[in-house]
Formats: sequence, C-alpha cells, structure tokens
Amino acid sequence: MSLRDKKLMAVLAGTALAATALAACSSERTETPAAGGETGGEAGGLIGIAMPTRSLERWNNDGENLEALLQDMGYETSLQYADNKVDQQITQLQNMINQDPEVLVVASIDGTALGPVLDSARAKDITVIAYDRLINGTESVDYYATFDNYQVGQLQGKFIEEELGLADGAGPFNLEPFAGSPDDNNAKFFFSGAWDVLLPYVEGGQLVVPSGKAPASNDEWTNIGIQGWESAKAQSEMENRLNSFYADKKVDVVLSPNDSLALGIEQALDAAGYAPGDEFPIVTGQDADLANVKNMLAGMQSMTVWKDTRTLGEQVATMVDQIVQGEEVEVNDTETYDNEVKVVPAYLLPPQVVTPDTVESSLVESGFYDAAELGL
Ligand code: GAL
Repeated sequence: MSLRDKKLMAVLAGTALAATALAACSSERTETPAAGGETGGEAGGLIGIAMPTRSLERWNNDGENLEALLQDMGYETSLQYADNKVDQQITQLQNMINQDPEVLVVASIDGTALGPVLDSARAKDITVIAYDRLINGTESVDYYATFDNYQVGQLQGKFIEEELGLADGAGPFNLEPFAGSPDDNNAKFFFSGAWDVLLPYVEGGQLVVPSGKAPASNDEWTNIGIQGWESAKAQSEMENRLNSFYADKKVDVVLSPNDSLALGIEQALDAAGYAPGDEFPIVTGQDADLANVKNMLAGMQSMTVWKDTRTLGEQVATMVDQIVQGEEVEVNDTETYDNEVKVVPAYLLPPQVVTPDTVESSLVESGFYDAAELGL
C-alpha cells in the first residue's frame, strides 16, 4: 500500500463524517496552511474547491470531506460555497484562479456557464476537475469524477417496477414523475435512467399520470424539472397536482430524483392526509439526506439512492495528487460524458439502493451516520 494510500486510510479512519446541519447559506473561504506534506514536497500547493451551495445537505459533506483529505495529504485548500448563485460561483472561481492553484475542483451550479472563467484557468495551466456534475460547452475541463448518474435513475425506475410488480402485468397505478434542476447536467441522466424503465409502462397503461405531466421522451425532461432542487418548489408543485387531479383518486407512486425534492413531496402528501406506512405512496430519492432517512424509517419514503460522498472525495483527492505529481490520472470511462466540445475522461463510482431495512447495514455500519442521529 502506497504512502498516499496509507495517508488516505489514516484520514478516513480519523474523519468523523457526521452529517452537517444545514448551515445558513454563506460563501466562505477556508485557507489552511499546509500541514507539511511528508512526501518530500511532491504533494503540496493550493487546491481550489468550488461547491454549489450549503442549502442542499450533501455538498456540506462533499466540501469538508475533500478539504480534510487534501490537507492531510499536504495541500493548501480554498473551499468556497456559492448559495446556488451562478454569478457568485464565477466570481469565486476567478478569485481562486488569481491565486494560482495547482488544480481546481468544481461542482458547478450551471455547467453551461463556466466556460469563460475556466478558459482563464486553462491559460494558466491550471487543471480543472469537474466534481459530480459535468461542465459543458468548453475545452477548459480536463477530468470528471462522479457517480454513475444514469445508473441512479435506473435504480429508481427498477425499484418502482419491482415494488409494483409491473413486469408481471400489475396495474394500473397512479404515478407522478418529477425531474431535477434544468441547469444540472446530471438531472437528464437521472431522468433518462428512470424513464427508460417506466415510459413503456406509461405507454402500455399500467402506469397512469393523472396530472398529464409525463414527458413523451427523455428529451422533454425539463418540462417537469424543479429549479435549484428546492424542496419548497417540489412541495407546492405536488400540492397543485393533488388539488387539481386527485379529488377522487389516490397517488400510488412518485418518481422523485433526489431527497431534497422528495422531502417537499412527502410534506405535501402528509398534509393531504396520506398516512405513513403501507398506505403511503412509493416515493424514491437520492443522497441519503438525514431527514429523508428518518422519513424512510417513519414509512414516508421507500428508498434512496446512496452515493457515498466519502468515496468520491477519495477518488478526487487521488486524481489531484496524480495531477500534481505528474502521474497518469486514473479514469474508468472515456466515452459517456461528451460536453459538446469533447468527451471528458471520467471516473464513475457505483451508487447503491438503501431501503428502510438496509439503513443499518449500509449507512450506520459504514459510519456514514451514527445510529443515534437516526433515532435507532
Ligand atoms: C445533483 C447531485 C445529486 C443531488 C442534486 C442536488 O447534481 O448529483 O446528488 O444532490 O444535485 O444537490
């Protein structure tokens, strides 16, 4: 095992990755002097980390985890959050570039808006890694690290197919589909993964969409997109659908692409009188946010697709170190992610389904959550 791996293992063993409370939105900058790389100066230098927002739970974990890993590898870090505001993220990136970082790690808010500012990074030979979300329409992105986004949607679609017995001809069931933020490149992959499983059942009549909000193809996903992945927007959209189309019928299943939307949807269903437990509609999710895992244990959400952000942090820290040390950068997908200018070499990690009865074996035993946090 290499020194770097030993360091990583030491960091992971030491890092308590407690779920961070949803901090008030703020853009902050954390510059911590180098801990003094013990790799004879091979590692070291400044790494810029740009995260989209603190108001969506997972990015707090992503940012702090990656920062801790890099600092223990001997790097300086500048970690910035941008309140889901594109202009703010562009300004933060420009400020980072002015400080001559070795590498920029960017989780974009709008992947189509960063070309010009990243061109100035490229002009200074700063390597850019797109983190979790692809950066589109530019030459100025070098690598991409994420979870298999299409697989996320497939896991949600297949979960619904299995739970309802659709492959055995069961139905009809009332479905309400939702999609993610229209400016998020991942959202189209999540939706296509799920809709490739579910659309045939909609076309065959086993799944009925009383609101009529069923895209006829994957390309029309933005018609049901929820801007900014905001829970409140998903809640009011679900309330509108319940009030307009469900006076005399019941919702059986909701396709929610992630947990922040699922939370809003569940609040609308709860307020409309759907009792937690077997009577509650099937609701999908993603990210294993704390409130949603609690809802799963309370019978108000059926599953979440867990993406262990610690493993993404590990992979990106490894890629940063390989870049700085002039080594070949590890990727495992050089075909899927075409950003309309080039195919960006990517490293994809596997997502996994968590259900109420696998919360302990997956989220607690791996240390992602303490049992006490979940009331277990
Ligand atoms: C996606 C990300 C998901 C989810 C969503 C909202 O890009 O892959 O994990 O968190 O953003 O933040």
